[in-house]
Amino acid sequence: MKHILVIYYSQTGQAKQVLDASLKPFSGNPAYSLHYHLVKPQQAFPYPWSYTQFFDAFPETVHGVPCGLEPLAIDESISYDLAVIAYQPWFLSICVPISSFLQTEQAGRVLKGVPVVTIINCRNMWLGAQEKMKQRLLDVKANLVGNITFVDRSANLISLVTVLAHVLKGTKDKYLGIFPKYGVSEQDILKGPEFGAIIKKNLESGSLENIQPELNAAGALDIRGNLLLMEGRGRALFPLYANYISKKGSAGSAQRRTRVRIFGIVLPTAILILSPVITILSRLAPLLARKKFGKEIAYYSQNTLRKSS
Ligand SMILES: Cc1cc2nc3c(=O)[nH]c(=O)nc-3n(C[C@H](O)[C@H](O)[C@H](O)COP(=O)(O)O)c2cc1C
Repeated sequence: MKHILVIYYSQTGQAKQVLDASLKPFSGNPAYSLHYHLVKPQQAFPYPWSYTQFFDAFPETVHGVPCGLEPLAIDESISYDLAVIAYQPWFLSICVPISSFLQTEQAGRVLKGVPVVTIINCRNMWLGAQEKMKQRLLDVKANLVGNITFVDRSANLISLVTVLAHVLKGTKDKYLGIFPKYGVSEQDILKGPEFGAIIKKNLESGSLENIQPELNAAGALDIRGNLLLMEGRGRALFPLYANYISKKGSAGSAQRRTRVRIFGIVLPTAILILSPVITILSRLAPLLARKKFGKEIAYYSQNTLRKSS
């Protein structure tokens, strides 16, 4: 019997949907035992979020400050054959619950030496979060072998509107009757079992180390040039602005509220203005710097961490 440890967090259940679809080839199979654990913060994050709560979560998320978690009843007597971690990026970083779990001693014990596949569900920007995931997994001496992403495929500006309606208003259907439903499409979720079958085949043949190219060929990663450039800007600037807010006060404090509110206006405005410019640049970039651009996409399509990240 092979044991698969599944660690996940989800606010509205989307992560569980993509997780269940991806692990379908294993479920109900007597040769496998799936051990699901939902990470629960001691103080639950809100859904929907108020505007201030949402942007106030930014500094601690970017800095990777852990929150208190309910204890996880992981059977530590088992030596797991594979771990699957399903998470969402928050502010181009790992969402706080999963980042917190990865910083626990328990994560160090159960993930050490274990091959890990990450499954991300998000709007469309996951590159920076996954870089931080690579580092966290190195810290606990786990072995990241695969990454699968499920994104909202709407244009960047459309999904900016619909994700904000989703997180701030709890909108589950079409927003204002004109914007599409936010989230991963049913059609994309149906791809899950194909990814799971690749994992299963390679787990059985002892070649998990080699799954990423196969997952990529099946469409597990969708790296768009405009988003790559956009995230690069955000990842350079976010830590600076996170420091600027943190200097004024701790999470939720009234002292930093003005800076949080400014950020809440500046961030969507910057995306709104920069998005068309960056889309044009990203169309030119492959022409002007084809080699460099190709190298970047190749880098984010694999699971090792470069030293400068
Ligand atoms: C605080 C916060 C920050 C977010 N930041 C990002 C982000 O950086 N990139 C992205 O693609 N999506 C981002 N999102 C959107 C989430 O990925 C989205 O809420 C997720 O698809 C919901 O999945 P769940 O229902 O499983 O929690 C953010 C959401 C929240 C709540």
